[in-house]
Amino acid sequence: MKADLLIYNIGQLLLPKASGKPLKGEEMKNLPILENAALAVQDGLVLWIGKNKESVGIDANERINAEGKVVSPGLVDPHTHLVFGGSREDELALKQAGVSYLDILAKGGGILSTVTATKQATEKELAAKAAFHLERMISFGITAMEAKSGYGLDRETELKQLRTVKRLQETYPVKLISTFLGPHAIPPYYKGREDLFLDEMIGLLDEIKKEDLAQFADIFCETGVFTIEQSKRFLEKAKNKGFGVKIHADEIDPLGGLELAVSLGAASADHLVAASDKGIKALRNSDTVAVLLPGTTFYLGKDQYAKARTMIDSGAAVALATDFNPGSCVTENLQMIMSLAALKLKMSAEEIWNAVTVNAAHAIGLGGEAGVLEASKQADFVIWDVPNFHYLPYHFGVNHAISVYCSGIKRWERMPYGTIPLSAARETSSF
Ligand code: NIG
Ligand code: FE
Repeated sequence: MKADLLIYNIGQLLLPKASGKPLKGEEMKNLPILENAALAVQDGLVLWIGKNKESVGIDANERINAEGKVVSPGLVDPHTHLVFGGSREDELALKQAGVSYLDILAKGGGILSTVTATKQATEKELAAKAAFHLERMISFGITAMEAKSGYGLDRETELKQLRTVKRLQETYPVKLISTFLGPHAIPPYYKGREDLFLDEMIGLLDEIKKEDLAQFADIFCETGVFTIEQSKRFLEKAKNKGFGVKIHADEIDPLGGLELAVSLGAASADHLVAASDKGIKALRNSDTVAVLLPGTTFYLGKDQYAKARTMIDSGAAVALATDFNPGSCVTENLQMIMSLAALKLKMSAEEIWNAVTVNAAHAIGLGGEAGVLEASKQADFVIWDVPNFHYLPYHFGVNHAISVYCSGIKRWERMPYGTIPLSAARETSSF
C-alpha cells in the first residue's frame, strides 16, 4: 500500500465514534482507543488506521514516529467570537472592584465597547487580527471551529464581520462555520425600542443567506438583553429562512432559553449555567447539544458552574467550547477548558474528549465530518506530548500539542526540546 504520510508507533489513537447523532449521556463515557496504532494518509484523507505492526508493509513518502504518545482527531471549538476590534483589559480593574458583567454592559462598556472598536476597524484589519487568534487556535490543536458576528449591531458592521469570516474560510485550512449573532446587545440608540432593533436584524437574514455569509443564527437571551419572546421571534424567522439555530441561553438568569432551544430543534444551547431542571430534562429527548463554557464562568469569577453532571447523567449531549471573546473569556486555549471541565464540571476524561470532538462537531453542523478519524475522512489530527489521554486535562494551562495536521498537512509544530541550549547557559552562568 502506498501513502503520502504514515504516523507510526502511536501509544493511544483516540477514535471518538461518529454517528448520525451526538453522543448522549452514557454514550459519552465510551471513547474508543486503539493502542500501539498507526495512521496512514493519502491525498489529505485518512487512508488506513490499524495496529502498528500491520503498518510495516506501507510504502509512505514520509514517516513520523509518534514515540508512543497520543494522537487524536483535531479538536473542534463550537463557540467563539473570533472577529472583533480592540481589547478590554481596562475592564479587569472594574471587575476587581466588584462591578458585574451586566453592569459594565449597562453602562455602555463590555460588548458595546468592542462594538465601537469593531466599527472603527477596516475589514482588512479585522481579518489580520482574527487570523492571529485563529493561528493560535490551530497551535492549540483546533482544526474546526465556529465564529460569530455580533460586534456590529448595524448592517454595515455585521456584514463586515461576516465577510471577514468568509475571507478566513477561504484562506485557512480549518473548517470554519459562520454564525450571525446580530442580536447580541441593544445599541444605546435603540434603548426602549428593542423590537425595532430586532426587526432590523431580522431584515438582514435574507441578504446574509443570499451571500452565504452564515450557516447559523444566534441571539443573546438574557436579562437586560433579549427576552424569551424576542429570542423565539428571531430564531423562528432564521429557521424558516434555512439557518441552523443556536442560542446564548440561561447564562446568568434562568429565563428558559434552554427549553426554547429544544422546542425549536436548535443545534445547540450555549452557556446554561442557570438552566432549569425542566430544561435539562427536555434536553434528553432532543438532539440539541448543550455547549458548556466553563472558561467563561472561571473568567467572570463565578462560583456556580453549569451542571454538566446532571445533564450527562440525565442523558443529554454535552460539548465544550472556549467562548473565545475579548470580554468574558479571553483565551484561545481549548485544552485549558478541558482542564476546567475536569476540575469544575466533574466530567471524566472520556466525556471531555468526546465533548471537544464528535459532540462539538454536531453542535456546529459538522457531525461525522469533524472530530473523527476514519478511513476516507479528512486527515485532521494532533500528535500530543502526553503519555495517555487522561494526562491532558490533568496538566493544565499549557500547550500539549507537538504538531497539528489539517487535511494531512502539518500546519503547526512546536520547537523541539533541546533547541534552547540550557546546558550551555548553565556553563557560562556565574552561579
Ligand atoms: O458568550 N454572553 C454574551 N456574549 C459573549 C461575551 C461577549 C463579550 O463580552 O464581548 C459570551 O460570553
Ligand atoms: Fe458567546
